[in-house]
Amino acid sequence: MARKRVVVLISGRGSNMAALIDAAGDPNYPVEIVGVISDRAEAKGLNAAAALGIEAVSITRADHPDKASLDAALDAELKRMRADIVCLAGYMRLLTPGFTETWAGRLINIHPSLLPLFKGLDTHARAIESGMRVHGCSVHFVTAEMDGGPIIAQAAVPILPGDDSDRLAARVLAVEHQLYPLALRLVATGKARMENGRAILSGVSAEGALLSPGAATDELDIESLARMTP
Ligand code: GRF
Repeated sequence: MARKRVVVLISGRGSNMAALIDAAGDPNYPVEIVGVISDRAEAKGLNAAAALGIEAVSITRADHPDKASLDAALDAELKRMRADIVCLAGYMRLLTPGFTETWAGRLINIHPSLLPLFKGLDTHARAIESGMRVHGCSVHFVTAEMDGGPIIAQAAVPILPGDDSDRLAARVLAVEHQLYPLALRLVATGKARMENGRAILSGVSAEGALLSPGAATDELDIESLARMTP
C-alpha cells in the first residue's frame, strides 16, 4: 500500500511532530511526513523539520486579513503538498468550519487530556485541581467544535501525589509521543475513520486504541501508587 502523505501543523516546539517524523523513519510505517506548516515563523519545530530535510513553511495570521483567508492559504498549501492527512500537533489556532469540513476525516489532533474532559488550555492544572487520579491524552478527528471531534485513541497517565502541572505535563507528553504515531497509523491504514460524526475502528483490538498507565512505567513511583490503593 502506498504510504500516506502527511503534513503536520505546529505553533511551537514540535515534539509531537518530531515523534511522528521519527515513526515515519521506519519504512514499514504507512506514512511519510511531506511537510510541516507553522502559524508562527519563529516556531522551534520549523527549524527541526527543515534540518531533517522536510519542507517547512510558515503561514501566519499577520500576513492575512482574516481567519478565512489564513485558512484558505493553509488549504492551498496542503493541496500543493498533496497531503492525504493533516496532523495538528500543538497548532494553537482554531480552524474555521469551512476548513474542518473540507478536511473532515483527514484532519486529526492530539490533546493533552482524556477527552471529553478538559477541552482547551491548562489541562494538567485543571486535572490536578479536579482531584482525579487519572489523566492522559487523546487523539481525535477534528470538527468545527474545539477539541470536540470523535476520539480515535487515548492513553491514561496516573496523577501521583505531589504532582504539579509541570511534572504531570512531562509524563503526559512522553505518552503523547507514543499515542500519536499509533493513532496516525490507524487513520492511515483505514482502521480508524470518521463516519456520521463518530470514529469507527475496524480490525483493531481494544489495546490498539488505548495505552494504559503501564506505558509510562519508568516514570512511576510505585510506592506512591501503593499508598493510593485502599
Ligand atoms: C502537546 O501537549 C499537545 O497535546 C498540545 O500541545 C502540545 C504541543 O507540544 N496540543 P509539542 O509542540 O508537540 O511539543
